[in-house]
Amino acid sequence: MSFKIAVAGKGGTGKTTLAALIVRHLLESGNKPVLAVDADADANFADLLGIKDVKTIGTIREEVQGTKGKVPLSMDKNTFVEMRLEDVLIEQEGFDLAVMGRSEGSGCYCYVNNLLRKYLDRLEGNYPYIVIDNQAGLEHLSRHTTDNVDVLLLVSDASVKGITTAIKVKELAEELKLKVSKMYLVISRLPSGDVPKALEKKANESGLEIFATIPYDEQVLDYDLNEKSILGLDSSAKAACAVSELMGKIENRTLKNDKGNSKH
Ligand SMILES: Nc1ncnc2c1ncn2[C@@H]1O[C@H](COP(=O)(O)OP(=O)(O)OP(=O)(O)O)[C@@H](O)[C@H]1O
Ligand SMILES: [Mg+2]
Repeated sequence: MSFKIAVAGKGGTGKTTLAALIVRHLLESGNKPVLAVDADADANFADLLGIKDVKTIGTIREEVQGTKGKVPLSMDKNTFVEMRLEDVLIEQEGFDLAVMGRSEGSGCYCYVNNLLRKYLDRLEGNYPYIVIDNQAGLEHLSRHTTDNVDVLLLVSDASVKGITTAIKVKELAEELKLKVSKMYLVISRLPSGDVPKALEKKANESGLEIFATIPYDEQVLDYDLNEKSILGLDSSAKAACAVSELMGKIENRTLKNDKGNSKH
């Protein structure tokens, strides 16, 4: 069984950076292979993982629909999708990356989406850990691309707006009855010092506890400015240490809750 972790929250709060830091942590701790999934149409998970040449699953959808390229006459669609998924999966040392790409345009994509889902489900079984980066906001929730996850990290910066979006994500996920076992609030890019009391109060009022914080880290900024892969970040970097702690906490809670607690 794979353990699926996804991130969600307001734009620019540090979701992709956190997802990349989680992949980095899993590789360092030997939890391989990891499947990294970029579910953001504005994909930049690949950049942070040091991958330049990106192929997307969205292209397969277009090929099956016949809007771009097409399925060879000699091949049935099942075989085609299976073959193309292998092509677009980006294989790296210790992890693979699947980039979803743009979501469907006009026309009915149910058939091809179902096909893709079937093969993605099968593919996911090959990995002990799956890390999903999402686009900002709430839309991905209603499209059910964030379903069947073990831990959904609600990422906020140290602002009321960030927490408010995190709360909305939580409420919508509950309303849509998404299969999410746990939702944890993470304050990212936290300036030095404690979490402001006002943010703690706001989170607690909605039934969320601040599960972890990721400090503002100049090294992360330096990596961003120099377009370097987060995977190369030193394990002593503040943000890397915080993510190791966060993952340790998730592991502890999962072990504690494991018995008898299934996804609802
Ligand atoms: N812990 C951190 N310390 C310093 N800078 C950070 C940290 N986390 C993220 N950043 C910086 O903040 C900016 C936004 O981060 P990121 O792209 O991860 O956010 P996002 O939530 O994925 O954004 P979007 O909603 O656009 O997808 C980037 O420049 C990133 O380098
Ligand atoms: Mg992002």
